[in-house]
Amino acid sequence: MLIALGVCGGIGAYKAVEVARGLQKRGHDVITVMTQSAARFVGPITFEAITRRRVITNQFDPGVNADIEHISVASSIDLLLIAPATANIIGKIANGIADDALSTLFVATRAPVLVAPAMNTQMFANEAVRRNLDTLVSRGVRFVEPGEGYLACGWIGKGRLAESDEIVAAAEAMLRPQGPLRGLRLLVTAGPTFEDVDPVRYIGNRSSGRMGFAIAGEAARRGAAVTLVAGPTSVEPPPVADVVRVRSAAEMHQAVLAMADEQQVVIMAAAVADYAPVERQAQKMTKDNESLTIVLKKTPDILGELGQRRIATGGGPLLVGFAAETEDVVRRASAKREQKHVDLIVANDVSRADAGFDVDTNAVTFVGPEGTETLPLQSKTRVASAILDRVEKLFVERAAERPAKAGHYDGR
Ligand code: PMT
Repeated sequence: MLIALGVCGGIGAYKAVEVARGLQKRGHDVITVMTQSAARFVGPITFEAITRRRVITNQFDPGVNADIEHISVASSIDLLLIAPATANIIGKIANGIADDALSTLFVATRAPVLVAPAMNTQMFANEAVRRNLDTLVSRGVRFVEPGEGYLACGWIGKGRLAESDEIVAAAEAMLRPQGPLRGLRLLVTAGPTFEDVDPVRYIGNRSSGRMGFAIAGEAARRGAAVTLVAGPTSVEPPPVADVVRVRSAAEMHQAVLAMADEQQVVIMAAAVADYAPVERQAQKMTKDNESLTIVLKKTPDILGELGQRRIATGGGPLLVGFAAETEDVVRRASAKREQKHVDLIVANDVSRADAGFDVDTNAVTFVGPEGTETLPLQSKTRVASAILDRVEKLFVERAAERPAKAGHYDGR
């Protein structure tokens, strides 16, 4: 596919080089269109060397108008991706201003448009910018949300250009023909649960929510109607149809069970506490005693209950669980798949420092009906994409096997 990569003047412009490479690695042809200010951050020659195509920086370059370049590019591209997109370009394209090569291309093309904004937190929150973003959304422009963290300007907050992997995955999702997830109701759980001991203390775990959020975001990009049930996280959830915040395993149990029957796919990436205190103390506990015993009781096994429902009814959503293990990973994950009656278990070895809890990467093994498949260490965005490829395949297979129960799997 031919993708026009629009690059604007921001510190994130250097990441656009990785985006161009990522797109190329996936077999796409990239033509770069840079604004004048982008060319002050990264030289056009860098993109030219990578893409092996002349970089467009000016619609009035000598000779360029012989074939009216912005029109010929506009009509031949499959996607216009703008990354990083500054407040300036967002304002221009929302208002039909065409005063440079990139904004003119936007006005001239009928290709789908994907925008990855990057700017200072305050600028991103500015009312005029928000209004421009809303205008673009209402016209069908899709976005890759900026990340949170330290910004080049010294602020901390939302505004950093999304990771190049995420941008490439979003671009691919837009280019993908309508997949089996389009229109499906898909529920994802993410994050930890906190089990309160007293008003200030709780038993929790190190789940950041990143793995589940990556799945939810990718499923939404593939067109699913995503409900995200998330425990307490400091990472912000992706933009999906519905986000339900819960705190404890009991709350997650209640939320998931109440919505499960409406879903066609349920993916449980949350790290749900297995035990919770029998009693929550009404007042902060004192430290008068040398030792302290807290009696715990088992929490409901949410995924296990969904599996039991399936056995009882012979229907229900496609079920995907995770298994966080520190030893004998695949054998234990296979046992969980059997016990919980789920279609697919995603096993991760959480003893590795670079996989599992609270990192951006994961290394997983799929344990499914056709055996096991181990994937290399990669970003959680890419793991999410691989999981959803698997889900799509299983979904299509199940729908073909059980046409009589198509009501559960009819892609509504
Ligand atoms: O959030 P991140 O920082 O990105 O980290 C990702 C992760 C490590 C949390 C994620 O990849 C992961 O492994 N999630 C599952 C963690 C877990 O609880 O595993 P488990 O083996 O204990 O549970 C097996 C399955 O049963 C899981 O799908 C779990 O959601 C589910 N479960 C567990 C207990 C319970 N009471 N109810 C459940 O439904």
